[in-house]
Amino acid sequence: MADAPDIDELLLLRFNDAPQNIPDAPEAGLWQSIASHQSCRSYTDTPLSSGMVQQLCALALSSPTKSDLQQRDIIIVNDPDKRATINALFPGSPWIADAPVFLVFCGNNRRLRQIHERHGHPFENDHLDAFFNAAVDAGIALSAFVLAADAAGLGTCPISTIRDHLETVNELLGLPDWVFPVAGMTLGWPGRPPRVNLRLPLAATVHTDSYNEEAQWGAIKAYDARRAELRPYGSQRDPDRFGTRDPYTWSEDKARQYNEPQRTDFGAYVRKKGFNLS
Ligand SMILES: Cc1cc2nc3c(=O)[nH]c(=O)nc-3n(C[C@H](O)[C@H](O)[C@H](O)COP(=O)(O)O)c2cc1C
Repeated sequence: MADAPDIDELLLLRFNDAPQNIPDAPEAGLWQSIASHQSCRSYTDTPLSSGMVQQLCALALSSPTKSDLQQRDIIIVNDPDKRATINALFPGSPWIADAPVFLVFCGNNRRLRQIHERHGHPFENDHLDAFFNAAVDAGIALSAFVLAADAAGLGTCPISTIRDHLETVNELLGLPDWVFPVAGMTLGWPGRPPRVNLRLPLAATVHTDSYNEEAQWGAIKAYDARRAELRPYGSQRDPDRFGTRDPYTWSEDKARQYNEPQRTDFGAYVRKKGFNLS
């Protein structure tokens, strides 16, 4: 059997311009599993112990948190009826039903507001930042959860489409004011090994000293061509509306994706939760 690719090889494949042979870089371990990451959309039936799930939550919540405010929570959805309700929302994403574990990462500005009330010091930050900080905190925990699961050989897939069903999810999980879902997460033992996806070259996404747009379009064009060759899409998005393209590129796919309005009710939902977004 061929040797597994090393970190440099994985990052070169992913970015096409990743640096190589960095002095003092670790040769395996966490860097290897981060470099190998792929979202997992195929799971075996093997169950996970609740201890393992709790441990992953502990690792996720060990990640940094804005001002030590700890404005994120994780809801593990174990109840079979609740799982069935969630699974039924996503017939087009069968890995959600297949995954042995489903969790929901939430932003939580409620606890902080309650602390203010109990201490008798009014919360004087009722503006967009309150929502933003809790959402970012949840995203950071979500990312740490993915990395911790990857490092254990487990597979995950974040599920932002739970926000396509805000009222259902809100009621199902009993989310009170100032607690909102950021994304769901499937978790289990992967049915197949990860296969590295490609990312935009570092020339487009890593800047030095100031934002530089000069390299953008050239980098996107090169990425489009490389990705169409190495990781072609299995199907084209909405060909009845947009026609078919050859090659069908990443940028074409993304421009089609957000040509369609999505979650236009999210602002209203967040305001209803009590947030002032001004
Ligand atoms: C916040 C967030 C939400 C996501 N939501 C979904 C989702 O609803 N369904 C899905 O299949 N994948 C979802 N993903 C996975 C992305 O599609 C995936 O990360 C991206 O295509 C890059 O692929 P990779 O993670 O395999 O490298 C989500 C990822 C993130 C970070």
